[in-house]
Amino acid sequence: MPDELVFGLERELFLGQKIFENESANIFSKFWVCIGRIEDVRQSGKDCYRQFEVDQYSIVVVARADGSISAFHNICRHRGTRLLDNSAGDLSNSCMTCPYHAWTYDLNGNLIGAPNMAEVESFDRKEFGLQRVNCVNWCGFLLVNLGDAGADFEKDFAPLIERLADWELDKRILVKTLGYQVAANWKLLFQNYSECYHCPTVHPNLNRLTPYKSATNDLSEGPILGGPMELSDGVQTVSLDGNAIGTVFSGLSAQQQRSVYYYTVFPNLFVSAHPDYVMVHRIERISNRESHVDCHFFVADKDAEIERASDQWDEVNQQDWRVCELTQKGINSPAYIPGPYSNLESMLVAFDRFYRRCMAQPV
Ligand code: FES
Ligand code: FE
Repeated sequence: MPDELVFGLERELFLGQKIFENESANIFSKFWVCIGRIEDVRQSGKDCYRQFEVDQYSIVVVARADGSISAFHNICRHRGTRLLDNSAGDLSNSCMTCPYHAWTYDLNGNLIGAPNMAEVESFDRKEFGLQRVNCVNWCGFLLVNLGDAGADFEKDFAPLIERLADWELDKRILVKTLGYQVAANWKLLFQNYSECYHCPTVHPNLNRLTPYKSATNDLSEGPILGGPMELSDGVQTVSLDGNAIGTVFSGLSAQQQRSVYYYTVFPNLFVSAHPDYVMVHRIERISNRESHVDCHFFVADKDAEIERASDQWDEVNQQDWRVCELTQKGINSPAYIPGPYSNLESMLVAFDRFYRRCMAQPV
């Protein structure tokens, strides 16, 4: 086989349990992982919490009435009992009490009550607060980093934050969310989103709106990859009829108004910025062969006719999941051998390279 060809990832990287665990250790415990939306946690004007499962971790996100959020491992510091067992709840009593021996923590995670422990010499309850989890609220998305306590979200997301600045995502309104179960490995979803080689065959309607060969990349190395695609002449956005679905965001340049900007954010977000709406996919790795996807739509004003965009993308999403599932089926066969990439798949080469580099770390 010619040396210059670049081949895809090996079969075992999509299947083995060991790989799944290595990904937990080397990727999902080290990068910023989006666990959901602030609306999943916050109830109007109250202190409350929601529990999120991330791999083997249970994380409690506490949303305070004053707007602040914090996150903790859901583990009592006494004998390790799960502290809060409901998926969500009210914290208006300003504390969290373990169901076992009633150790009690305030909403900052400080241990404020430990029955009978005063009698234990050298016990200092200041040393037994809940373990904090690095958590940020980015435009309503909750992201946690289970690795380095010093992980710097602003720095890690800087390339994306800079590129999205003109869309002012923090001011946009979430108007629609589509949910999907996909019988395919999360990496197949990333790879599929990262190329439009498949657009003429899989998405004939989308391909009329944004011709597949117009895709370019302004981030081509590292954890955030992608770039703009041009809208066809006369097409204002990706929607059923190609017409805008609401107000075009003020502050976009002429070039930004004629393009859709597609970025993958390793390891679980896709951001697609259109002239009049922003779509964000959140990918949740369920198992080697199963993923869950939430697809969110954000607009500038509530009157936007989001269905013309979301119906178009629902069609595209389902077309994409179908080919991802077919690819998973092909890879499930022991006869699968990786094939060579085309020149239209340079982002897959970059994704694979980054993935391999992460996985090469000692666990
Ligand atoms: Fe929580 Fe004992 S395990 S108080
Ligand atoms: Fe596609």
